Amino acid sequence: MKVLESRAEIVFDYYNRRIRVMDFTGPFEEISGTLEALAKAEELGKIIVYTPPEKRHGPETCGYMEEGIIRGYYTRKDCHIFSSYPVFSCYPQNSRRISFHEEKEEQIVKNCLRKDRKAGKLPQKPVDSRRNGSWKKQKEKIPFPEDYTLRPAVQADASAMASIYCQGFQFYPTPLHMESYLLKTMYSNVLYLLVEKQGKIVSLASAEMDSENGSAEITDCLTVPSERGKGLIKELIVALEKELSARNFLSAYTLCRASSYGINTAFASLGYAYTGRLVNNCRIGRGFEDMNIWCKMLK
Ligand SMILES: CC(C)(COP(=O)(O)OP(=O)(O)OC[C@H]1O[C@@H](n2cnc3c(N)ncnc32)[C@H](O)[C@@H]1OP(=O)(O)O)[C@@H](O)C(=O)NCCC(=O)NCCS
Repeated sequence: MKVLESRAEIVFDYYNRRIRVMDFTGPFEEISGTLEALAKAEELGKIIVYTPPEKRHGPETCGYMEEGIIRGYYTRKDCHIFSSYPVFSCYPQNSRRISFHEEKEEQIVKNCLRKDRKAGKLPQKPVDSRRNGSWKKQKEKIPFPEDYTLRPAVQADASAMASIYCQGFQFYPTPLHMESYLLKTMYSNVLYLLVEKQGKIVSLASAEMDSENGSAEITDCLTVPSERGKGLIKELIVALEKELSARNFLSAYTLCRASSYGINTAFASLGYAYTGRLVNNCRIGRGFEDMNIWCKMLK
């Protein structure tokens, strides 16, 4: 897109009904009117702008609100996330900008931060390993209970993973329920790890890697209901961090459901810092949900 002297790299995210501006050059004032017009034409209720610190004044002066920061997103440099909620017939009275569960979500973050958490604290139960690479190093530690194994997902897992994700998430921003999507991403920029018990997958998580900037988003966390509360997701997050560190990634972050006690507690207890909340950001669960940002420098 070219608007006067300014340029913007934008993503029309129809599933989540929003426009994402991943980069821009030139005065943001020249872009903002066009973004608003596009949002209205396409009936997209949120415009979200990712920007490094030196360009943050652009969206700020155009009335965008800073909703959060991702630490180290651009090779040790922070990313500031600004949002605007255009008002039009689909979203009368600014309804998209209203967080419907703010009180509960605030309480969850407060509880997470109240606990005496040590930054970078590692979990109590290290994992078993049967693979090569950095997993090998964990062999010396106390293993998981015998019937649980943590390992990277492979092609043959895709069908079972798709079915578990399909049962776990009614809606999800990416098509995790599609085997073809899992296979495509597995062999590009996404590292999927899983825990299996007696040959059955019981917990999953992934890291979406931005190799250029050395940052990765930890995402797609799910434990089957019967295995929850056993520390499995924390084991997976720690294993992902280790692998990211081995691959020289500098930082990790997550955008996680603000209303989930389990996932917020997991990241808080592993030394992640809470850095903001993106209101009605993703269609997940029963509708739009707020997403909390948690960040950690790995090096
Ligand atoms: C969120 C989820 C992945 C957690 O998985 P899990 O394997 O049960 O998590 P863990 O056992 O590793 O627990 C992590 C922490 O959360 C706590 N926790 C887990 N479930 C909890 C709950 N329902 N209420 C309060 N705390 C909870 C654990 O006690 C642990 O805390 P600690 O660090 O103080 O020990 C799981 O509940 C799930 O699959 N939910 C549905 C899918 C989902 O919403 N995923 C998140 C997408 S962003």
